[in-house]
Amino acid sequence: DQRGLGFMDAVKELADAAGMQVPAADPRAAAKAERANTLYDVMTAAQDWFVTQFQGLEGAEARAYCEKRGLKPETNKAFGIGYAPDSRGKLKEALKHFGEEKLVEAGLLISVDDKEPYDRFRGRLMIPIRDPRGRVIAFGGRILGAGEPKYLNSPDTPLFDKGRTLYNLDKASAASRASGRVIVVEGYMDVIALAQAGFGEAVAPLGTALTEQQIIMLWRMVPKPLLCFDGDSAGQKAAFRAAQRALGGLKPGHSLEFVTLPEGMDPDDLVKKSGARAFGALLDQAEPLVERIWKAELAAGPTSAPEDRAGLKQRLGTQLANIADTEIRRHYADAFAERFDMLFARKTRQPQNAAQRKGPWRPNSNAPAPPTGDAKAIGSRGPDLLMQGILTALLSEPALLMRHQEVLSHSVPRDSGHARLLSAMLDAVALHSGKETLDSAALLTILGPDLYNMAQALLQGDGTAFGFVRKRADNGEMARGDAFGQLDEAIRLMKQRPELEAALQRATEAAGFDLTEESFAEQQRLRAEKQAFDARLSALLQRDDLG
Ligand code: UTP
Ligand code: MN
Repeated sequence: DQRGLGFMDAVKELADAAGMQVPAADPRAAAKAERANTLYDVMTAAQDWFVTQFQGLEGAEARAYCEKRGLKPETNKAFGIGYAPDSRGKLKEALKHFGEEKLVEAGLLISVDDKEPYDRFRGRLMIPIRDPRGRVIAFGGRILGAGEPKYLNSPDTPLFDKGRTLYNLDKASAASRASGRVIVVEGYMDVIALAQAGFGEAVAPLGTALTEQQIIMLWRMVPKPLLCFDGDSAGQKAAFRAAQRALGGLKPGHSLEFVTLPEGMDPDDLVKKSGARAFGALLDQAEPLVERIWKAELAAGPTSAPEDRAGLKQRLGTQLANIADTEIRRHYADAFAERFDMLFARKTRQPQNAAQRKGPWRPNSNAPAPPTGDAKAIGSRGPDLLMQGILTALLSEPALLMRHQEVLSHSVPRDSGHARLLSAMLDAVALHSGKETLDSAALLTILGPDLYNMAQALLQGDGTAFGFVRKRADNGEMARGDAFGQLDEAIRLMKQRPELEAALQRATEAAGFDLTEESFAEQQRLRAEKQAFDARLSALLQRDDLG
């Protein structure tokens, strides 16, 4: 468990340490194991030889290359970086005691027809590929500088099956135990650079798309491996293919998350240019699988005509059909339906507001919205409706009370019922602090009979249109994220409105007292700000958002 080995591997490892042999199931398996044993010896010898070359006279150029790429000598050592001299026969000569046949079987020599076998790797930086037990099973050889192919890899051998191997899995397993995270990147060099930057839990497939077996291996380490593929279109396509492959095998609690790198950068470039902290911040913003699939399908075609939308629904349906687990499929269907409705339901009914709905909700958008009838009407009932929405949201998700405790404790609802409810909720949270999170049911019982009824009425009514209140916890996490954002915005508005009104009042008085260009401009600015503010408030309170 400590080293992330599967059961049989762990047994074999312990047996080795105790000088014992794990009995093979049948004679043929025993013979195969025997052959493999020699192949491991061949690979170990080759690895030692490549490292010796790297450190010797011939390795100067390779060492300079590593240095130029910012690799520290400790890193080279930890990853066993070696060098294959530019020769067709040096390795063959050095390892001739194993016999040509073994060297060919190990993929170290190339044998074409009846010609003399010769060294496969020539003039390349050698990166050993290890199995989960840390044994060298293959090599990736990088050309020093420009040229094709950039990487030459060992062929599949009895030891090496590309689709069932992840580069650096052995070291990453141990590191992922500490961080609770596994990062999947595209290249060897990304893995190595990340390890040097403090992210030891990175692995990479071997230049091919992520296979189902590899995804299963990742899920043995953590429930949600992070895919961090290059920001170019090839990388993003590979990420989407992996997403689709993962969908098929999803099990409750298992998923993938996606980190998007800036265009044209790989993780190696990023940690070099922006540092480990910037990379860590990107990891923290990883996107869930459901969101990645939704976005990809949404972007895959137009959506303005009814038949376009039907097409989108169909594409989403195809994705759903790939999900084998019924329960998960149902949740995905809900999550897609909800996103679909959010995006289209209201637009179709209220075309005059389409402009406001375009794009995501931007909390600090300072483009003043045109004053609509709604915005003007907000003036009188806005604060009450807003407070009602906030209270409802807080009742259904008491954890948010903590987050906004500070602001909420300074706000004074106009409605006396609201005021009593809010202060009782804040008391409940204060009493509860330090204990495990307070859930909605528990909060309701603490409130006492009179407020309990008021709270129930709020929760059951549709008096508000916050996405948050409408969509309860059984929906996708991302939808909750959006809704949380709306609640943050609502609370911010609630706090700012009196301040803004007071400022406008002062500016208006000042302008009346001494009308200068500045005082007039200031008053106009605040008026525009208040108008934009009310438009935001009204958008937040749109009942039609109910879709
Ligand atoms: P990259 O070109 O992204 O790898 O290819 P990298 O590690 O960032 O390479 P550097 O930084 O230029 O050294 C991703 C992976 O695809 C495989 C390798 O496994 C590589 O790590 N690959 C790439 C090949 O097998 N052959 C190639 O010619 C190129
Ligand atoms: Mn790179």
